[in-house]
Amino acid sequence: MFKVPTVAADRLPALLRRMPKAELHIHIEGSLEPELIFALAHRNGLSLPYADVAALKRAYAFSNLQSFLDIYYAGASVLITEQDFYDMARAYFVKAAQDRVLHAELFFDPQTHTARGVPMRTIVSGLHRACVDARAELGVSALLIMCFLRHLSEEAAFATLEEALPFRDQIVGIGLDSGELGNPPEKFAKVFARCRQLGFRLVAHAGEEGPPAYVWTALDELKVERIDHGVQSTHDAALMQRLARDRIALTVCPLSNLKLCVFPDLARHTLGQLLDAGIVATVNSDDPAYFGGYLNSNFTETFAALGLKAAQAYTLARNSFEASFIEPAAKQAYIRQLDECFETFR
Ligand code: HPA
Ligand code: ZN
Repeated sequence: MFKVPTVAADRLPALLRRMPKAELHIHIEGSLEPELIFALAHRNGLSLPYADVAALKRAYAFSNLQSFLDIYYAGASVLITEQDFYDMARAYFVKAAQDRVLHAELFFDPQTHTARGVPMRTIVSGLHRACVDARAELGVSALLIMCFLRHLSEEAAFATLEEALPFRDQIVGIGLDSGELGNPPEKFAKVFARCRQLGFRLVAHAGEEGPPAYVWTALDELKVERIDHGVQSTHDAALMQRLARDRIALTVCPLSNLKLCVFPDLARHTLGQLLDAGIVATVNSDDPAYFGGYLNSNFTETFAALGLKAAQAYTLARNSFEASFIEPAAKQAYIRQLDECFETFR
């Protein structure tokens, strides 16, 4: 096992920024910056219910998940053409490369676009082309995870799956997002079973605002491999043991949790507790354009608030590669790059 060097507190932010990492929980529509929302609205001849970028930014004051989702879906409504989806993802990849993200797994929400008449082909083609170019031009590998909106019906999810099947080889996995309370994972048991048969990798948001019971049913009824958020698991000791024992990764998003009032401040975040319990936690940005920071801000601000150290930085970065959906050989190559980076801080 790699021996992590002791790193002085004043050098820790540089290490966090420079270390290779993977991002496993990023809603690509949540990377739409206000400036790009206005530019795309203009390009597509759409008007927005906000006078300007500053007015839109003033609306980014959230009290819970739903208050955010209302604005997030409104922002996504400027996406019309294949080039719009490409430009959105490209802007994210440029930021990710600056944050030393070597691999990213992007969530997308097709139902919020197909409901407006945007074809599935337009969405997937634009995002896929951006993924191909990110690898070639920025050195970032990327995969797409299609999410079902849980406030809609399971029947609607089945219809979305049908629409996506022509693009099966451009989508690695299936996720579940949107308003959690009142929409438990088991609502989607049949469609997730079908996705499993089709060979998709499975993840679901659970235990962000919802109870530990939702994490249990995501595992036992949807049979997901990773839990997105999962921070409410700390309220259930048996669940904590299950997550650790089965090495179920949690894609934790600290600045999201702060902005959506899941924790009153970052110093009260339970990331350290999850790591101490031996859970495969990772750090992610969720919706960086809305929550005040991309991946490195999530790392530096959370480490400062919680007093985490180099050993935890190494564990989190290593977990991000190990929990990813890339080939084992590629994982090992990324982890070697991680070790080399830490060596330079010895
Ligand atoms: N939770 C649920 N749905 C979402 C989120 C989130 O944090 N971000 C975008 N869609
Ligand atoms: Zn999310």
